[in-house]
Amino acid sequence: MNALVYEGPRKVSVRQVPDAKIERPTDVLVKITSTNICGSDLHMYEGRTDMQAGRVLGHENLGVVTEVGPAVVRIKKGDWVCLPFNIGCGFCKNCDRGFTGFCLTTNPPTAGAAYGFAGMGPYSGGQAEYLRVPFGDFNCLRLPDDAEEKQLDYVMVSDIFPTGYHATELAGVQPGDSVVIYGSGPVGLMAAYSAILKSASKVMVVDRHPDRLKLAEKIGAIAIDDSKGSPVEQVLALTGGEGADKGCECVGYQCHDPQGHEHPNMTMNNLVKSVRPTGGIGVVGVFIPTDPGAPDPLAKQGDIVFDMGLFWFKGQRVGTGQCNVKTYNRHLRNLIHVGKAKPSFIVSHKLPLKEAPNAYQHFDARDNGWTKVVLQPQA
Ligand SMILES: NC(=O)c1ccc[n+]([C@@H]2O[C@H](COP(=O)([O-])OP(=O)(O)OC[C@H]3O[C@@H](n4cnc5c(N)ncnc54)[C@H](O)[C@@H]3O)[C@@H](O)[C@H]2O)c1
Ligand SMILES: [Zn+2]
Ligand SMILES: [Zn+2]
Repeated sequence: MNALVYEGPRKVSVRQVPDAKIERPTDVLVKITSTNICGSDLHMYEGRTDMQAGRVLGHENLGVVTEVGPAVVRIKKGDWVCLPFNIGCGFCKNCDRGFTGFCLTTNPPTAGAAYGFAGMGPYSGGQAEYLRVPFGDFNCLRLPDDAEEKQLDYVMVSDIFPTGYHATELAGVQPGDSVVIYGSGPVGLMAAYSAILKSASKVMVVDRHPDRLKLAEKIGAIAIDDSKGSPVEQVLALTGGEGADKGCECVGYQCHDPQGHEHPNMTMNNLVKSVRPTGGIGVVGVFIPTDPGAPDPLAKQGDIVFDMGLFWFKGQRVGTGQCNVKTYNRHLRNLIHVGKAKPSFIVSHKLPLKEAPNAYQHFDARDNGWTKVVLQPQA
């Protein structure tokens, strides 16, 4: 089958790889019709992880079931399914409590597995014609009869819609809250969209790319351009000097200033400053334990200089980590089905798989107008 293969830093290609197939009785095989490029793929694409050359990328996947293993009881051939990027077993200590992003069975001794992801197990990604889904009964989210027609919406339920929602949950966003979000990439936009769905009173989104900030405005958020002045001061000015009730980090360890210089502590310390005393902060932007490619020696060990004094003095709370997609995906699917959510508003490009290398280049450069790419391997 054809698949998008990671060849090395900033080099990916579409080529023939061995067909995905049923390997265990609990597997499901899915023909992929929509699969996104994610900001998380870019950490790998840029060579800023230990991703091995030759692996297939792609963890935001949707498609049609073509085959099920003999132990699969719920999922049937022909079902349209959306796959959480996390691969859970459903029965370990963490899955049992809903922490499917930290499964203890699927990638031991690490907690957590995913498709086509550095450090998250041997699983192949879905930027390919077919995908093997382990523990298929547990991991497949079945979609209703509008699946094909609304697949650009439903495919966002594999990762970024639940992840944006998770950021607001970690921060503790309640109706009426003011919320500041750092990052207006797909994840930041989904966090803003989730805060708006939760009836936040004011949602502010910080970034410097006009096309991305425009999308934030389109859904009713206030755009804050940090290339035009301190984002902290702009947030304080919009909140009577107090700071936002809640804050979300949707950038991660490669956060940088508007000139492009990386400062891995920049968004965390800006959040401490722009969230009010006793406020909550949710961090879904990825931070990694070691980053050998980092420009500064502390960051190479995964450390940042964090403003602990001010954080403590303000009595703030912080929650972090991978999103446990299964905690939210049914509910978010239902909002899409009844027409109350339309996360496809961020999609800028719908392309055949063979266009993927070019799309990676543009999305990685955050080129104007490249906000979210959906690949369609059957096109
Ligand atoms: N926790 C999870 O489960 C999970 C899931 C998906 C993605 N992620 C992570 O979320 C992060 C965002 O993903 P994405 O797809 O939106 O990526 P992206 O790279 O497309 O978007 C990040 C945005 O942040 C902006 N930015 C950079 N530095 C900034 C700063 N100092 N202040 C404000 N904005 C800044 C960039 O201009 C860009 O628009 C990534 O780290 C990704 O790996 C985490
Ligand atoms: Zn993703
Ligand atoms: Zn598990």
